[in-house]
Amino acid sequence: MRSLRLASFKAPATGFLSCLVLVGGCATSAQPAQTPGAEPTSTAPAPDSGNAGTPDAGTAGSETEIALTPTLREVAPAGFYVGTIAQGGGQMGRYWPYLTMPPLREIISTQFNSITGENQAKWNTIHPRLDAYNFDDMDAMVDFAEENGMRVRGHTLLWHRDLPGWVFSLSDDDLRAVLEDHIKTTVGRYQGRIAQWDVANEVIDDNGQWRSENPWIDRLGPDIIADAFRWAHEADPNAKLYLNDYSVEWDNAKWQKYTEYLPELVAAGAPIDGFGFQGHIDSDSGFPTALGENMQFISDLGLDSEITELDIRFPVDGDGQATAADLAQQAEWFEQAYATCLENARCTGVTLWGVGDYFSWVSNEFPGWGAATPFDRQLQPKPSFTAIRAALSSGRP
Ligand code: G3I
Repeated sequence: MRSLRLASFKAPATGFLSCLVLVGGCATSAQPAQTPGAEPTSTAPAPDSGNAGTPDAGTAGSETEIALTPTLREVAPAGFYVGTIAQGGGQMGRYWPYLTMPPLREIISTQFNSITGENQAKWNTIHPRLDAYNFDDMDAMVDFAEENGMRVRGHTLLWHRDLPGWVFSLSDDDLRAVLEDHIKTTVGRYQGRIAQWDVANEVIDDNGQWRSENPWIDRLGPDIIADAFRWAHEADPNAKLYLNDYSVEWDNAKWQKYTEYLPELVAAGAPIDGFGFQGHIDSDSGFPTALGENMQFISDLGLDSEITELDIRFPVDGDGQATAADLAQQAEWFEQAYATCLENARCTGVTLWGVGDYFSWVSNEFPGWGAATPFDRQLQPKPSFTAIRAALSSGRP
């Protein structure tokens, strides 16, 4: 068994840093072409500008040696998906560090057996103009997954965010037609290669109402959701089709609406296979106590489930660091999240919304918060990594 330890991992981290400083130079051959119609690529990624500092800003990660072997995918029970995202886009503009940074690439390909595009399959990326698709970034990710024996989750087809402006100027008829074309074209292109799709994402708001910012739901009514599932199923009858949302790990208004809607959707014969609990946890709220119970509700409906976007954020200092006590708490909650999924026979996997705190979306959307992934800003494993591995090693009860 290979022994990847902190000391031997420092060398490539130098390359990681120079990539960040010299983005253009380090990314040229592997970085996919820029999406037509998108803003010019920024010259350097500027993640978490709210938390000052470059990735090596003097507060290097823990000096405690945490062995990277055995890897998470090695210890996971057979058939269980241990996922992460192909990071990029977001606050990094059109920069995809997972393709160009050897240490990040190494972590993703050795530790995980499933991958989701953070932004690669969103409308702004793949459908920038009414008459033009651009699958370059998706193709690169699917190739990467296949090279490394990883399953792919597709994310996402019917969502209210990251939509190009032209969508909002369509007539109702065109809006419907364009969604059908988008779903059939995209799912059809990757037939047999993308195992699972988040067909619909975040369709219910925090007050338990249909999300009015979603142009399809707002203009065509919620029945468009079942249509989206049917179109995806037609395009790839073997793909597992999911409905995905955040804040569904609690007993709240949104969850209550799902407990009414999901049985109706299933009874109506929509080809839905599973429900995704995103799992964006924050330290103010603490561990979502209803996660296990809500997952059981999904199993009782005859559906699978996964935790699809797990991260756990904490308040951080100006260098983006959380306290040691918070990191210990984070490790406990990560372990609990994996254990909750493993305890449910129909929970088939857990995907982390990123590895490497430097790249996480969190500080972009929640300034002053961060440290949300199991690898620190220098890509060194945190106590949370060990805790996740312990949960996976324990297997299913
Ligand atoms: O497209 C523009 C690009 O032209 C411009 O150069 C760049 C400059 O910042 O911005 C680009 O848009 C960004 C987009 O990602 C695509 O790269 C947005 O500003 C940025 O806000 C967006 O962030 C992503 C966000 O979803 C919205 O799509 C995050 O990286 C991503 O982590 C986040 O992920 C979501 C899941 O999909 C669903 N669940 C919640 C989760 C966190 O918000």
